[in-house]
Amino acid sequence: MENPLNDLTDKSHADNPMNSPSEHSRRKFLFKVALLLNGAVGAVLAVPVLGYLFGPFFRKNSSYNNWVSVGNLEQFPPGETRLAKYRNPMGTPADGQTRTLPCWVRHIANNQFQVFAINCAHMDCPVHWFPQSKLFMCPCHGGVYYQDGAVAAGPPPRGLFQYKYKIVGNQLLIWAGELPTLSTEASNASPGCSSCQS
Ligand code: FES
Repeated sequence: MENPLNDLTDKSHADNPMNSPSEHSRRKFLFKVALLLNGAVGAVLAVPVLGYLFGPFFRKNSSYNNWVSVGNLEQFPPGETRLAKYRNPMGTPADGQTRTLPCWVRHIANNQFQVFAINCAHMDCPVHWFPQSKLFMCPCHGGVYYQDGAVAAGPPPRGLFQYKYKIVGNQLLIWAGELPTLSTEASNASPGCSSCQS
């Protein structure tokens, strides 16, 4: 004997407009549109992430990092520390004077140099060189550095940041464009820089 309840269920299933073929294909269509939209949004969100992850591989040969001159060797007498300036390779002509950046160049002897970022390793204030005391001093919170960039006193957590350098002809070049960060190894030991090139 047939169960009348089964009849009722089959009937209601067939009568339900949500189960009609047109409704089914409409849902399939909307599902595909939603998938497409999700894919498009995902692709847009992925661009900056991929750029962040893979950007450095492409920057190596671009103007992001470049050897730039800080001047002739004659400008930096042995035993002295002098202020030098270079053109930021990351800048554009529209930057005007702000594209010119300062750094401190220390000529130890025999073409051995240290080139320091002007910024204090504590909170980026520009440090000043005092030749009488042979110290770099920071005006903001009293940070003091020895002539080799090592911390002498105050809050800086590490020595002054250093640029890689090399000598080409009579020009002193530094590897510029990439700002030093706290992940850069501290250079607060002996004079000279293991990462520097000459
Ligand atoms: S910014 Fe130089 S000591 Fe704080």
